[in-house]
Amino acid sequence: MKTTADFKKMKESRETIAMLTAYDYPSAKISEGAGIDLILVGDSVGMVALGYDSTVPVTMDDMVIHTKAVKRGAPNTFIVTDLPFLTYHSSFNETLSHAGRLLQEAGAHAVKLEGGADVIMHIQKLTAAGIPVMGHLGLTPQSVGVLGGYKVQARESESANLLLKEAKAIELAGAFSLVLECVPQQLTEIVSKELSIPVIGIGAGGSADGQVLVYHDVIGYGSEHVPKFVKQYANIGETINEAIQTYVADVKGQQFPEQKHSFNMKEEQLAGMYG
Ligand code: KIV
Ligand code: NA
Repeated sequence: MKTTADFKKMKESRETIAMLTAYDYPSAKISEGAGIDLILVGDSVGMVALGYDSTVPVTMDDMVIHTKAVKRGAPNTFIVTDLPFLTYHSSFNETLSHAGRLLQEAGAHAVKLEGGADVIMHIQKLTAAGIPVMGHLGLTPQSVGVLGGYKVQARESESANLLLKEAKAIELAGAFSLVLECVPQQLTEIVSKELSIPVIGIGAGGSADGQVLVYHDVIGYGSEHVPKFVKQYANIGETINEAIQTYVADVKGQQFPEQKHSFNMKEEQLAGMYG
């Protein structure tokens, strides 16, 4: 299993980090088998697997259940789990108990939280308590209500400068890595150069130290709206649709089950039945 030290070394040797979300046993098992460097149990689970229209309704219990399933599927992969909405904005004691639960009860190796200046103290104290933290700047989906939609962030020099400043503060607070979501590629290049911790991009261009995408987007599974920054590597949804349509037709046309799917009773036992 790769560790936070390995991710830093990968940045230094310019080996790009490949990260992907996973939410359950099969997605984790396949991702580990395919050579993913680290798995994110993202609160995107709320949108792609639970059908919510944002990540806001996702709870700690949701994250624990999904992290446990991912852990069983990928026992040898570094797992980062998102702290969900409103679980790291009040007292540090509350933040600590939520993060602790994700590591101790669910089996995550690190937590991710969104935001800059407002969460720096939490990042610093979590790290001091021995919990590796991944930051998240740019488009921070838990703040969709404040941001007014899912759109590219930090396009002007002022907001880009602020992001750079917050990225540096996140590194200084002890985070082992930082996600940059939906920002101009020029900004990603600057942030990646200025930080010594790996910067993982999503919709942030090709110059980040790593890339992350949502599992369902990568395999084309049930995602209705596919953002511009996604590359879809398969269309599993279509394959599933064809399989289920054929199953329905087979059942209705009595083409399934066949003899090979059926069990038999011995002749004498059958004879005994009718007396
Ligand atoms: O929840 C998630 O999937 C994420 C990634 C998009 C970084 O936070
Ligand atoms: Na997330």
